[in-house]
Amino acid sequence: MSTSPLADLAQQTTELLAAIAALSTLDALRDAEASLTGKRSPLAALQKSLGALEPATRKTAGAELQEARRIVETALEERRADLRREARRSSLETDRLDLGDVIPSDVHWPLAAGHPGLVSLTQRELEDVFVGMGFTVADGPEVESDWYNFEALNIPPAHPARGLWDTFYIDLGEPETVVLRTHTSPTQIHLMERAVATDSLPIHSVMPGRCFRRDTPDASHLYSFHQIEGLVVDRGITFGDLAGVIETFTRAYFGPDISSRLRPGYFPFTEPSAEFEVTCTICRGAGCRTCSSTGWLELGGCGMLDPAVLAAVGIDGEQWSGFAFGFGIDRCAQMRHELSDMRALIENDVRFLGQFS
Ligand code: DAH
Repeated sequence: MSTSPLADLAQQTTELLAAIAALSTLDALRDAEASLTGKRSPLAALQKSLGALEPATRKTAGAELQEARRIVETALEERRADLRREARRSSLETDRLDLGDVIPSDVHWPLAAGHPGLVSLTQRELEDVFVGMGFTVADGPEVESDWYNFEALNIPPAHPARGLWDTFYIDLGEPETVVLRTHTSPTQIHLMERAVATDSLPIHSVMPGRCFRRDTPDASHLYSFHQIEGLVVDRGITFGDLAGVIETFTRAYFGPDISSRLRPGYFPFTEPSAEFEVTCTICRGAGCRTCSSTGWLELGGCGMLDPAVLAAVGIDGEQWSGFAFGFGIDRCAQMRHELSDMRALIENDVRFLGQFS
């Protein structure tokens, strides 16, 4: 009678368990895995040899072998878990960051958290007011071609209205003239073009953003400032709708004792056009130095969309009409918070910015 192939199973199991206990790193465990429990292990070799046994002996031998394998595999998994825990503990130890080396000792706790600046806060408030009135908010590029900034807005190359905008021209060596946008009005053109292309008129949108003019900064002018543009294109829109939107906005943003008025004005892209004024926020309409004793402060421009603008973007002026408006976000912040000098908005002095959180 031949000796059972499992004669040294107990001995082999003990050796495997000792080898597992001796593994000292996860890498070593990974390298040894195949020879401990995998295809190259003594247990796998024994498994093969079972084939030569009588069916009855094979069954009991198979069960014994399976039990040995379970013991070895459990030991290996426990060792793996131990080594993982150990590796984690030692990496926490070695990777520990001693902030005492990084933060100077004279920092005053708690550290102050930053917050959006006054212009961003004002922009958000203005957006909120218009969203509450049913407008959506859209964005447009700060760098525009001459066509978007001027021509599509009915301002051809030699038009005297170009003189109103002291423009930064960009020389990209292209045949087309490129400018830093002088107002947010070109975003109207982008929105109308998109609505025509996607057959998605009407439009009720406001478009806030940064604009640029070659102005020397003074108390009420900046070379980089912000405007918010409004555009409505729909059926049967009248000047009364425009005046209503302006008045509703004025009271919602400045408060119930400030109202608006429209004075005839001129803009090439609207007909008729108006200057949009609000009650002087300093003297509340009584007349003071800031409003040149008129009781009113000019905030922006507005008007009914000029048929030439609708034609430039391919909108049928017989079916659709609309209005637009645009005014300064920085100017709103100045009026609302009675800032004597707009330059404070771009000087990044935390003593100023920290007052508006
Ligand atoms: N874009 C004009 C400016 O910057 C302001 C303006 C006037 C915008 C009339 C409009 C408008 O949408 O209809 O001076």
